[in-house]
Amino acid sequence: MKKVFMLSCLIFSLIVVHAQEEDENQAMNEYIHALMSKMTLEEKLGQLNLPVSGDIVTGQAKNSDVAAKIRAGKVGGLFNIKGQDKVREMQRIAVEESRLHIPLLFGKDVIHGYETVFPIPLGLAATWNMSAIEQSARLAAVEASADGICWTFSPMVDISRDPRWGRMAEGGGEDPYLGGRIAEAMVNGYQGKGKLRYKQDSNIMACVKHYALYGASEAGRDYNTVDMSRIRMFNEYMYPYKAAIEAGVGSVMASFNEVDGVPATANKWLLTDVLRKQWGFNGFVVTDYTGVSEMVDHGIGDLPTVSARALKAGVDMDMVSEGLQTLDEGKVSQEDIDRACRRVLEAKYKLGLFHDPYKYCKSAEAVKNIFTSEHRAIARKVAAESFVLLKNKENVLPLKRQGTIAVIGPLANSRSNMVGTWSVAADLDKPMTLIEGIRSVAGNNVRVVYAKGSHLMADEMNEKNATVFGRSLGREREKRTDEQMLAEALKIAGESDVIVAALGESSEMSGESSSRTDIGIPEVQKTLLRELLTTGKPVVLVLFSGRPMTIGWENENVPAILNVWFGGTEAAPAIGDVLFGDVNPSGKLPVTYPQNVGQIPLYYNHKSTGRPLAEGRWFEKFRSNYLDVSNDPLYPFGYGLSYGDVQVEKAEFAKAPEKEQDAEIRVTVKNHSEVATRDVVEVYIKNQDSKYAPVNPALCGFAKVSLEAGEEKELTITVSKEAYKVVNDEGEKIFDSSSSVLFVGTNGPDKRSEALTGKVTKQLVINW
Ligand code: BGC
Repeated sequence: MKKVFMLSCLIFSLIVVHAQEEDENQAMNEYIHALMSKMTLEEKLGQLNLPVSGDIVTGQAKNSDVAAKIRAGKVGGLFNIKGQDKVREMQRIAVEESRLHIPLLFGKDVIHGYETVFPIPLGLAATWNMSAIEQSARLAAVEASADGICWTFSPMVDISRDPRWGRMAEGGGEDPYLGGRIAEAMVNGYQGKGKLRYKQDSNIMACVKHYALYGASEAGRDYNTVDMSRIRMFNEYMYPYKAAIEAGVGSVMASFNEVDGVPATANKWLLTDVLRKQWGFNGFVVTDYTGVSEMVDHGIGDLPTVSARALKAGVDMDMVSEGLQTLDEGKVSQEDIDRACRRVLEAKYKLGLFHDPYKYCKSAEAVKNIFTSEHRAIARKVAAESFVLLKNKENVLPLKRQGTIAVIGPLANSRSNMVGTWSVAADLDKPMTLIEGIRSVAGNNVRVVYAKGSHLMADEMNEKNATVFGRSLGREREKRTDEQMLAEALKIAGESDVIVAALGESSEMSGESSSRTDIGIPEVQKTLLRELLTTGKPVVLVLFSGRPMTIGWENENVPAILNVWFGGTEAAPAIGDVLFGDVNPSGKLPVTYPQNVGQIPLYYNHKSTGRPLAEGRWFEKFRSNYLDVSNDPLYPFGYGLSYGDVQVEKAEFAKAPEKEQDAEIRVTVKNHSEVATRDVVEVYIKNQDSKYAPVNPALCGFAKVSLEAGEEKELTITVSKEAYKVVNDEGEKIFDSSSSVLFVGTNGPDKRSEALTGKVTKQLVINW
């Protein structure tokens, strides 16, 4: 009876919500219809224009070129402006001085936080904590919206299996399922979910990017060509974009690369057939920066031609090229222009800008919500959760709170290097340096000493290119020779009890246009590390990185390695928290670490070949392998150590799996250590005897769990019925396996994970 009552209540509330939505849509349609009937062709094209605004100087903005365009109704939005006052001034020009008073959209690359910066997205992915990721997006929206921004160019969900590509740092790594969950969490965080979407003043519109397949740029070279089968596309690379659409993302950014031989920006199949017709996307599509004009260099026509192709394919807003501006009814139909204009206006309407154009830049009070101690405390927790303990021989970590710690390395004494790539709103002077972070956590019984020890790179010009955008590591001020720097480092190392070596990549060695062919630690730093090891003191490598790095030698020789990515504004104290064991490391790799660059692309859920190599073998003639290196990764996907010891004691179906129903797995986990800890329970699936050759066990569910010392817990993990299906080359989901095996553990079901962790996954078999 109670169930029937609850069901009736649910149905009733669904009907009410649906009716409300219908009313809202009708009101929006009427409003936009009335507005568009007053618009000239030029004004409609103006809404499709997202020009570059340059640095806007408050007070002088009204005399700028962009202000003249706004007055003439030739601008739909502006982007990457910082400051509520600047936004307000430009919005005032739009709503007071243009003929139809249409408000502007203000976009920005709020990628992993605003002024309070969270770990780079690859680091966020390593937390495997979806509520933490959603919260990071929420707080980013709270800060950005307080400063006038209503639209973020995030989440970036490009699957990437090539760590040469610098932009791997900006996404969730190599796995479709993990990437999909992250996409969903971030969209919900920015926009607000369900009925609350855009309802609070701090909800901003998200933009999922870069649609599609940008992460598969050939040879990891940025902006390069992509070519891929539809099967791989639909089953793997498309999954996170689709998850963002299903979560209701308001906008989509087209990618620079081509898909099926046509640049994404002009690809009708991609932007209309799949995105809108198959997936039901109803927001608007923006190009990437100069995405339209770059198609001239792709070689598919002059600016008017490529602009027309973009609009007809499904682009609604043109970032920077101003190509769509040149269109007229001779090149495209009125219907094409109206469609795009309507979509941009709808986004403004949904955000509430017609109701209140100053919604996001109303009060001086709001900016008090930026970089607050509360936000920073959360960012510190999330940062600590993102670090991955790759090695910890003889429990070098956690460090003891006594004696002398030598913090050595070119990345130890920098503030600007901590936040990571794409932190355009951050104040680079605010983060603590690693030395300060360690000191702030160490307590009074520890002496922390420092030496730089080496440059970032031997070559000055290379270092300059890798420390752009105000991220210099002070080389220009360095008066000492390399030998003198090394000698100083060895001297203090010799007088210390333990060495913390802060090495790896600078923050601008990953991100856009930061591809590398050698993804190791730069040689000059490796020399320093080698010398530090000769002192015989225990060495902890604190590895800064925006991608998996080839650190086979370091893995062999350094007793402890903590990968800290770029942890954001609070990275330094968070590193201290983990080094001293106040926080137990619980990050797990969202990407595979190759042994060398020649193995790339190397990822865990690859296909089996017809000539697989037998387990445990390195080389066998006429098998799929290399002469010079085993097929194993250095560190596998899903791997990460902690100071605790969590085991999966038992895994069973909570209810018997059925084809068209989600399965529920009941998992018992126990912490066998004497410290409180967190871990991730990972579930992988392998479907057998399908029409298409299946991939190796692929992630299909996970849960992050906290456990006190000695605690045992039972948790339920849902495996979606979608996990048993594949998507065919038409993009349709089909079920065609005869059996499936589920693997449950705290790491992946592969030999390398087992060897590194000593933990074997449990198996559950389903015969369909
Ligand atoms: C990047 C985008 C970014 C845009 C706007 C482009 O270069 O590819 O990810 O959102 O610039 O700054």
